[in-house]
Amino acid sequence: MRFILSIVLCVAILGAFPLSSDSQASNLDPSFYKNTCPSVHSIVRGVLRNVSKSDPRILASLVRLHFHDCFVQGCDASILLNNTATIVSEQGAAPNNNSIRGLDVVNQIKTAVENNCSNTVSCADILALSAEIASVLAGGPDWKVPLGRRDSLTANLTLANQNLPGPSFNLTQLLSFFARQGLNITDLVALSGAHTIGRAQCKFFSSRLYNFSGTGNPDPTLDAGYRQTLQSLCPNGGPGTTLANLDVTTPDAFDNAYFSNLLSHKGLLQSDQELFSTPGANTTAIVNSFSSNQTLFFEAFKASMIKMGNIGVLTGSQGEIRKQCNFLNSNSVGLANVASKESSSSEHDGMVSSY
Ligand code: HEM
Ligand SMILES: *[C@@H]1O[C@H](CO)[C@@H](O)[C@H](O)[C@H]1NC(C)=O
Ligand SMILES: *[C@@H]1O[C@H](CO)[C@@H](O)[C@H](O)[C@H]1NC(C)=O
Ligand SMILES: *[C@@H]1O[C@H](CO)[C@@H](O)[C@H](O)[C@H]1NC(C)=O
Ligand SMILES: *[C@@H]1O[C@H](CO)[C@@H](O)[C@H](O)[C@H]1NC(C)=O
Ligand SMILES: *[C@@H]1O[C@H](CO)[C@@H](O)[C@H](O)[C@H]1NC(C)=O
Ligand SMILES: *[C@@H]1O[C@H](CO)[C@@H](O)[C@H](O)[C@H]1NC(C)=O
Ligand SMILES: *[C@@H]1O[C@H](CO)[C@@H](O)[C@H](O)[C@H]1NC(C)=O
Ligand SMILES: *[C@@H]1O[C@H](CO)[C@@H](O)[C@H](O)[C@H]1NC(C)=O
Ligand SMILES: *[C@@H]1O[C@H](CO)[C@@H](O)[C@H](O)[C@H]1NC(C)=O
Ligand SMILES: *[C@@H]1O[C@H](CO)[C@@H](O)[C@H](O)[C@H]1NC(C)=O
Repeated sequence: MRFILSIVLCVAILGAFPLSSDSQASNLDPSFYKNTCPSVHSIVRGVLRNVSKSDPRILASLVRLHFHDCFVQGCDASILLNNTATIVSEQGAAPNNNSIRGLDVVNQIKTAVENNCSNTVSCADILALSAEIASVLAGGPDWKVPLGRRDSLTANLTLANQNLPGPSFNLTQLLSFFARQGLNITDLVALSGAHTIGRAQCKFFSSRLYNFSGTGNPDPTLDAGYRQTLQSLCPNGGPGTTLANLDVTTPDAFDNAYFSNLLSHKGLLQSDQELFSTPGANTTAIVNSFSSNQTLFFEAFKASMIKMGNIGVLTGSQGEIRKQCNFLNSNSVGLANVASKESSSSEHDGMVSSY
């Protein structure tokens, strides 16, 4: 009897305190700011609604920023830290340099949040919340974002170059990079569905158009008509910075057209098309299911975004709540520079006091 009781107790305790080895385990809580900053959601939404009127692409850029944060030492806002005497910024990493967007918008959100509840909301949580609100504003799914992340005291450029997947990856490489983050095959396909919005520069896919994997020929998995369209947009040897829509069908709408594009061989990046066209791969079936059922895709996307948002988070007394997302609180030089920039800009008058 006592034995059974202790087993029951033990199970109850394990249930209450999930093991940290469980990839689902998280100390985060959607109501984390309920008492300390109840308006944080509406503040983020207000800024994003406003900015997206003139720059619809910003929604895509913010979803991607959260991803590039989470894959490098966890969702800790390390990507936001600028170069300083002690920080080598991840922003210079190959997948980020001249590619990530939205840093200024994150600062705009942070300033608005600081003015409402100072020293409370982390930059890492602002990235996670922005990704969810961006999804909703683009027509995609909503979910309750687990919150309570804290901001890192470090950044790691080397790790950013090592962990972020590349656009010419094959399926094996993609699966292995996601597995390293505790994400499985369904997560890979669902999260790749974020490419239903946003843009990519020609340099990230032009080898598919002219000389695929050194074969001297285009990628045979690319639809010929679509290839010709892309060839006019991205001439061989032309500027690599021209932008193409990642979703050729509905460029700014968060829907499941990304997956039907793959079925018609119109994935923009090799890493996109691989999910459908790799012979014998079981991602093909997942792509088929998401393309035939948008609800199924949205359910999977929500679950995978929450899972990605839990990677390597700092909680409790770990890290800090940065006052300015680009600098550590200990970096008085960086913070002073920001304060003097802002006081000389009439747009930001009256916001200096919070530093
Ligand atoms: C599976 C591996 C992935 C690869 C190889 C990849 C690669 C890329 C590349 C090369 C671009 C274009 C960047 C540029 O031209 O500057 C891009 C854009 C984008 N990626 Fe990914 N990505 C992957 C997964 C993801 C995931 C997991 C998400 C989010 C959940 C995501 C969200 C986005 C978004 C929204 C854009 C458009 C950004 C914008 O327009 O500013 N990607 N990705
Ligand atoms: C919206 O944007 C305009 C112009 O960019 C700016 O003046 C205004 O303060 C913004 N409002 C909010 C709520 O961010
Ligand atoms: C941080 O660096 C980015 C470029 O990576 C730059 O656009 C931004 O102005 C910098 N932020 C501050 C506050 O200096
Ligand atoms: C980022 O790209 C710029 C060119 O736009 C280059 O000058 C700079 O060296 C790159 N940064 C890193 C860290 O490689
Ligand atoms: C925070 O924002 C909410 C909603 O805009 C407002 O009601 C509240 O008074 C603000 N609080 C502070 C301290 O500014
Ligand atoms: C940065 O990442 C590299 C590569 O994984 C690792 O070897 C190194 O220890 C990390 N540096 C710090 C300061 O954590
Ligand atoms: C994927 O790429 C890796 C690295 O280039 C290579 O070793 C592997 O053979 C490729 N796998 C397939 C199935 O093509
Ligand atoms: C992927 O992980 C999720 C939960 O994290 C799980 O529900 C799902 O069954 C896994 N998929 C596969 C194919 O293992
Ligand atoms: C294609 O790329 C390979 C390897 O990079 C190179 O050796 C070859 O000359 C290229 N072919 C053409 C037609 O440019
Ligand atoms: C997918 O295929 C791999 C082998 O290629 C296998 O190990 C894995 O279990 C398969 N996953 C599913 C969900 O069928
Ligand atoms: C689509 O997926 C949803 C969510 O899993 C499911 O409830 C629904 O039955 C599916 N619809 C069809 C037509 O299969």
